[in-house]
Amino acid sequence: MVMSNNKEMKYHLAGQFEETRFEKSHNVIFENSLEASKLVASEIAQLIKQKASVNQKCVLGLATGSSPIKVYEELVRMHKEEGLSFSNVITFNLDEYWPMQPDDIQSYHHFMHEHLFNHIDIVPESVHIPDGTIQPEEVYQYCVDYELKIKEAGGLDFQLLGIGRTGHIGFNEPGSHYNSSTRSITLDHITREDAASDFLGIENVPKRAITMGINTIKKAKRVILLAWGVNKAEVIQQTIEGKITSQVPATYLQEHTNATFVLDKEASSELTRIKSPWLVSSCVWTEELKKKAIFWLSDKVGKPILKLTDKDYNEYGMSSLLVEEGSSYELNIKIFNALQRTITGWPGGKPGADDSRRPERSTPEKKRVIIFSPHPDDDVISMGGTFDRLVEQGHEVHIAYQTSGNIAVSDDDALKFAEVFKLFDPNSNNTENIISSILNKEANEIDTLEVRKLKGGIRRAESLAATRYLGVPDDNIHFLNLPFYETGKVKKNNLSKEDIDIMCALIEEIKPHQIYAAGDLADPHGTHKVCLNSLFEALEVLKNQKYMNDCWVWLYRGAWFEWQPHEIEMAIPMSPDQVVKKRHAIFYHQSQKDKVMFQGNDAREFWVRAEDRNKLTAEKYRNLGMADYAAIEAFKRYFF
Ligand code: F6R
Repeated sequence: MVMSNNKEMKYHLAGQFEETRFEKSHNVIFENSLEASKLVASEIAQLIKQKASVNQKCVLGLATGSSPIKVYEELVRMHKEEGLSFSNVITFNLDEYWPMQPDDIQSYHHFMHEHLFNHIDIVPESVHIPDGTIQPEEVYQYCVDYELKIKEAGGLDFQLLGIGRTGHIGFNEPGSHYNSSTRSITLDHITREDAASDFLGIENVPKRAITMGINTIKKAKRVILLAWGVNKAEVIQQTIEGKITSQVPATYLQEHTNATFVLDKEASSELTRIKSPWLVSSCVWTEELKKKAIFWLSDKVGKPILKLTDKDYNEYGMSSLLVEEGSSYELNIKIFNALQRTITGWPGGKPGADDSRRPERSTPEKKRVIIFSPHPDDDVISMGGTFDRLVEQGHEVHIAYQTSGNIAVSDDDALKFAEVFKLFDPNSNNTENIISSILNKEANEIDTLEVRKLKGGIRRAESLAATRYLGVPDDNIHFLNLPFYETGKVKKNNLSKEDIDIMCALIEEIKPHQIYAAGDLADPHGTHKVCLNSLFEALEVLKNQKYMNDCWVWLYRGAWFEWQPHEIEMAIPMSPDQVVKKRHAIFYHQSQKDKVMFQGNDAREFWVRAEDRNKLTAEKYRNLGMADYAAIEAFKRYFF
């Protein structure tokens, strides 16, 4: 656990708390979601046992989605290894899509059985999940009955919640009334976008759902809301620090007397006490915090670092920093220089230069480099400019595509290629099978192995076209096809030893001086995070090898976010020509241009996103008083 807003709360989640100046709901921030989930599961287990000890039923309100998965995993573990029994437990799920068949893989009915109910000793009659097959004219009465059943069970002892980016709890979307009860609701567009990848396209996401109401949730005796990842940071800030409003329904929880928000570091990152702690209380001024505060101040007052005055520092809660450092004059120069030294046109180190204040070592002059790319285009999207420089400056650059990326190729694209094959071999059974399985595919059906191979092959050919354009020999391109990814579904497997062995074997073979990897923290269950974990695990295995003493790891950020200036340890500027060259490298990934399968909530094409993001970093550097570059790619070092 990293911090709680009440010291008494250190080892448990319930109880009284003191609000900080900006926060209106009790919250606890953990280093990571696994640690947090274990503590939440243990609170649930204690409640179940305490109720069992006095022969009472324990009534749990349960949620679905990515947030509670590890809580359920831990409860299942406790059942199997510690004998935790669910025989006295009655559950009510928050919601279900409507219409929805219970055995559909996207149904919450399926989710709950897969993650929890199939693995514990709960009595099937004690499980309640809203029924997505109810006829329209019966929905109203069904919802009234659902409420009645909760009441008859004695009310919810505990309610587990996630939060949507709209601020929904359950499926209570913006506009939901404070006193609402279980009912049918129209899903918000953002919620449907977020569910689109599970349904392989927003057009397949149901437009409606049945959800418990705000009032139903509020009546629970204890509420825990889970939020992981930077995607949730903004809505968490609004929910905990904002006014109660139907526009962010989770803010209604501010009035609950026994609700706790359980957050990981990334989800808490927009809270004032995390983002700008100097506004909340006295801080311990680490070097990173000094940078963060001064860059924030510069942005706030609209002045470059060297123009900040004592008055600026004092007015924005940073007088203690001045006391520690003497004057703004000295401090400004120190921080300005630190930022200036992150900039280098030599990502592999500058030969013959004094490297004591440069981000990279000057020796060996020619380095062996591995760029790990989770999908077959992250290398050029996130670090195409740096990649180009490394090659031009003569380093031995290897690219390792960690996954095949086959799921992100559309059926239309695959069909186009299969039809071209057919021209060359009209009698090929194989091609015919591929064509007919694409044409006859049902909604949500998993692709056959051949179709997946074709889709993976398309991405492979696109990657080779891009890496040839940037001048890398084909022998240096490694398609790792990590097995965890190859499910044919959006949901991937957990990492296995096979994945880690593949990662280790490549590192062992190349013995790199530099590794670049996607340090993507946005989505705790996404492919980027799993790929990053596979690297971390491989480094753990190899760290005692002698050659690893010479290996530095640099993290670029994935397609959606960028490191902030205070986090950046190496900034590679790009000229306008390099920006265009990078754009062309991205263009080779044609299957990911225009109408892509996994667009996310950003309508821009990948090359536009990449350019906007690199331009924005350059602008931030310029506003802080650095030279005015066309674009900058940013990296943070990872120490293992
Ligand atoms: C799920 C539910 C929703 C989710 C929310 C967050 O039963 O009611 O409110 O909790 O959409 O979803 P994830 O956890 O997938 O980010």
